Amino acid sequence: MDFTRRSIVFGLLAAGLAADEALAATRRRPKSKARPRRSPKGKSRQAAPAAPVQPKKPDGNPLRIPTLVDLDPASPTTLTAGKVDHAFVPDKPAPVAGYGGQHLGPALRIRRGTAPTVTLVNGLDRATNLHWHGLLVEGTADGGHAAVAPGASWSATLACDQPSATCWYHAHGHGRVGEDIHDGLAGFLIVEDPADARLGLPSEWGVDDIPLLIQDKLFDADGRPAYRRDRGTVDHGFRGDRIVVNGTLDAVAEVPQRLVRLRLLNASSARIYRFYFEDERPFRLIATDGGFLAAPVEADTVSLSPGERVEILVDFADGGTALMSTPDEHEHRMGTRTMRIPDSFAAPFRICAFTTEKDGKPSARVPEALAALGEAVEPAQATTRRFVLQLSGGAPLSKSAAHLHDAHAGHGAMASAEADLPVMAINGKTFDPTRIDETVPLGATEIWEVVSPEMAHPFHVHGAHVRVLTEDGGIPKIWNRGVKDTVLVENSARLLVTFTKAAPPTAPFMYHCHVLEHEDAGMMGTFVVKT
Ligand code: C2O
Ligand code: CU
Ligand code: CU
Repeated sequence: MDFTRRSIVFGLLAAGLAADEALAATRRRPKSKARPRRSPKGKSRQAAPAAPVQPKKPDGNPLRIPTLVDLDPASPTTLTAGKVDHAFVPDKPAPVAGYGGQHLGPALRIRRGTAPTVTLVNGLDRATNLHWHGLLVEGTADGGHAAVAPGASWSATLACDQPSATCWYHAHGHGRVGEDIHDGLAGFLIVEDPADARLGLPSEWGVDDIPLLIQDKLFDADGRPAYRRDRGTVDHGFRGDRIVVNGTLDAVAEVPQRLVRLRLLNASSARIYRFYFEDERPFRLIATDGGFLAAPVEADTVSLSPGERVEILVDFADGGTALMSTPDEHEHRMGTRTMRIPDSFAAPFRICAFTTEKDGKPSARVPEALAALGEAVEPAQATTRRFVLQLSGGAPLSKSAAHLHDAHAGHGAMASAEADLPVMAINGKTFDPTRIDETVPLGATEIWEVVSPEMAHPFHVHGAHVRVLTEDGGIPKIWNRGVKDTVLVENSARLLVTFTKAAPPTAPFMYHCHVLEHEDAGMMGTFVVKT
């Protein structure tokens, strides 16, 4: 498939935009001023003497790079959740949260074949917990169900046997995941298979291997993040009007003038990004949520919904550019009516600018092959389950379940004030941590049919790898063809889910919408993986 401007238009069409709007959206994309176009051979060149055009340095703040911490199997790593002061712009500290004294957490790197222990210490004044998004570990280590009291700690041993991947970790206290991640309780978790060193990919952290944790935020007049949980943000998902990358507003990254690997993580509540480079340069998609594709795929746009990750290779030999995104106008479908919800960004906007510097090191090469990954094939026989994601319809929690739910959320007092907010559901049932919704045998591969009747939802499964068989009955989009754990379901998707880790009834896995306000409103279920 040829992946050019046409496919952007195509993607926008799939996202529900009319053709003329889609064309307008691509036309709105500002052209690069940074790179003078070479005049084609044979054309007159005398018009202007070839005065070297000095590209203007983009305005902004230097991109912050999270500290990389290698998890040591010989000694536990402590991660303390707590309040921190963080300056989104230099010299203006705002009270937010994070791990290990940083806003957002350090990037944790785990080597395949090791089983390090991580201890979460709760330095907050309320209960919290920690979930390893994308990591294949048993339910008892998954963390989504735990409730760690203030001052207490919780340890998980992460027995890692999965391919290299860009994963992440974040707080998972039901009812406040949206606010917590907005506040900074999230970080990268890098799985590294030492055998992949042979690929020769750019791998110098923060130099040619650059993590980009992307969030949209609202700020109040004092420059503090101003998360909002109300009817509108719960229904549509919270969207901010400023972009923050690794906690940096108006981020500018300096990269060497050669091949660079970018790890993109959408840690926003609800915003769906459609990325492209300002000068329309193509790049190579090399990995999705669960790891490498079979081979690099050339693309000039990639979409990322909340919770998803991709890795791309970008050639900066010709100089800098900026990573951009189109706005996220989304639609709600109510029976035969469709409501279009405008975005606070009316035009394409910048995620991160890149300036380049020659560092004299040789450029990495794009490998021809990456991993032994076949096409996802429909099994002849498999258990099929169906999940309908619903913006309403869940019966309110029973009294005892509501109590537990508050203990999870760690903010019982707020629960009554939220009584008016929508209650969301999957298959007519709102999240109840005391109920087991599905039981799956260990080692099974099943077909999960996910349906989004009212709007697009990113569907996430804990503790399992997912392949997309079909999207709306057709072949999956280019960025949905690899190994996944979170899939944007625009209308319907047929997923192949493989369960390789056990989860007992006391520590079940979860599946849920990764629009954090939908998850917090109960669009989540539990499942046991039975040995
Ligand atoms: Cu990223 Cu259940 O979470
Ligand atoms: Cu997860
Ligand atoms: Cu949703």
